[in-house]
Amino acid sequence: MLKDPSTKYRAFAPVRLSDRTWPDAVITQAPIWCSVDLRDGNQALIEPMNLERKIRLFQQLVAIGFKEIEVGFPSASQTEYDFIRHLIDNNLIPDDVTVQVLSQSREHLIKRTFEALKGVRSAIVHIYNATAPVMRRVVFNMNEDEVLQLAVTHAQMVKDIAAEAPETRWTFEYSPEMFSGSELPFAKRIVDAVTAVWEPTPEHKCIINLPATVEHSTPNIFADMVEWMHRNLARRDSILISIHPHNDRGTGTAAGEFALMAGADRIEGCLFGNGERTGNVDVVNMALNMYTQGVHPGLDFSDIDEVRRTFEYCNQLPVHPRHPYVGDLVFTSFSGSHQDAIKKAFNARGPNDIWDVPYLPIDPLDLGRSYEAVIRVNSQSGKGGITYLLEHEFGLVLPRRLQIEFSRVVQGVTDATGKELSARDIYSIFREHYLEAQKPYGYVAHHLVEDSTKDEVEMSTEISVDGRAQRLSGRGNGPIDAFTHALSDVIGMPVKVHDYHEHSIGSGADAQAVTYIELSVGEGRTLFGAGSDANIVTASMKAILSGVNRALAEQSGTSDQRRVA
Ligand code: KIV
Ligand code: ZN
Repeated sequence: MLKDPSTKYRAFAPVRLSDRTWPDAVITQAPIWCSVDLRDGNQALIEPMNLERKIRLFQQLVAIGFKEIEVGFPSASQTEYDFIRHLIDNNLIPDDVTVQVLSQSREHLIKRTFEALKGVRSAIVHIYNATAPVMRRVVFNMNEDEVLQLAVTHAQMVKDIAAEAPETRWTFEYSPEMFSGSELPFAKRIVDAVTAVWEPTPEHKCIINLPATVEHSTPNIFADMVEWMHRNLARRDSILISIHPHNDRGTGTAAGEFALMAGADRIEGCLFGNGERTGNVDVVNMALNMYTQGVHPGLDFSDIDEVRRTFEYCNQLPVHPRHPYVGDLVFTSFSGSHQDAIKKAFNARGPNDIWDVPYLPIDPLDLGRSYEAVIRVNSQSGKGGITYLLEHEFGLVLPRRLQIEFSRVVQGVTDATGKELSARDIYSIFREHYLEAQKPYGYVAHHLVEDSTKDEVEMSTEISVDGRAQRLSGRGNGPIDAFTHALSDVIGMPVKVHDYHEHSIGSGADAQAVTYIELSVGEGRTLFGAGSDANIVTASMKAILSGVNRALAEQSGTSDQRRVA
């Protein structure tokens, strides 16, 4: 890289538009969308689409709801020509969809373009020629007047040939190619000259497409350029201003949005930003940005994964996992604090509340995605995600202090392996460390005698101690009290219960009680045990044994927690 890039590059000149209005504008309605996937997108592919892929993508675009679709550049190749003929000859274009085709402003190409369209019900014929000074000077060696004459001649040609086929509803479109790099007064002059030929009316408008063929400037400057054209073009009421941003600076979406605010009526772009070099503007991104502002874009992405699959198949290009709204990871939070906030916001949400969930600008359900991916657990995650997954996937509602305790166990595993854990992995860890912690002391059976006159119960229990059966009995003010008394005698240390939580999972005959008991053994620290069973008393006894086993393992230095650490 150069020490001083100004010796090689110059800053893009801003537009003198001190009374610009677009910064205060708000997008309140959807523009006319035109997909250029089958033309601009296709011409940017390593392997352009064959007929079968083109048809598949066309049908997907129709299903999404595009009413204008640029289907190709029929004079450029036989495949393009054949595809358009295939659509027309097989009646594959729905009545409410207009196909668009592109041609350079050259006589033989325009004639071939009209041949490709013979018999079509409705079509947009889109012609272009470059207007930027660098192209006039270096490529065509033409002055402004000569370039203008070229545009006018071919605009007239399009009009004359179209008049020979009045059975088709024709719309004309003109692009001053490289508008983004052209002088505004010249862009206006040439567009005015073209529209003077076409004589559009408010009832039958023509389309003036303003391409950011290459994105040269910050998006505010592009918006100024569009607002300048919007204000200065002749016959404005008979023109649809279309924009066609490319994404060379990575701000195609911003440029597209600002240009709509600046007066554009229509937008040309591609799904997921495919297209020449860094792509055309991403119409999915633009449409869903609108949706998150409460404006329906008129395009349907309620099964966004299906759209992505078609896109990937037809273009043979992957969609990046971080791609807005569609990437595999875009609805996922690994960070513990994010997970915690999301979990709380979900719990606080009422059924008709406005969407206001931190870290999730859109409800994944609206796009056919599930909440499954929202919270994923790796070494960056805290208790929020772990608890959320256990609760949502397995119905286990851990008390708060157990959440903290268990998250340390999980953290030990993620730190040791460096891997992400699925909900099932987390559940397995919980089973292993809590529900199945039944050694050396394991539950076998119990018999409970309640004496209501004495407010006391008598409990006889059978447990296994290192695999050997042992009977014990005890009394207390309830089953837990009676069992811990008996157990304290067996292990030779007092077992003290500090807290108790219980809930059920499932209903009817399949219902299971899950019990979490916080206890301490002897002088050891307080920790949790957990047990589950169809019988609530049995679940509690298993939880006590789980806690006691965990406490003894910790005291003898053999706990899994320490091994992992
Ligand atoms: O990017 C561009 O300028 C184009 C034109 C042909 C419209 O694709
Ligand atoms: Zn383009």
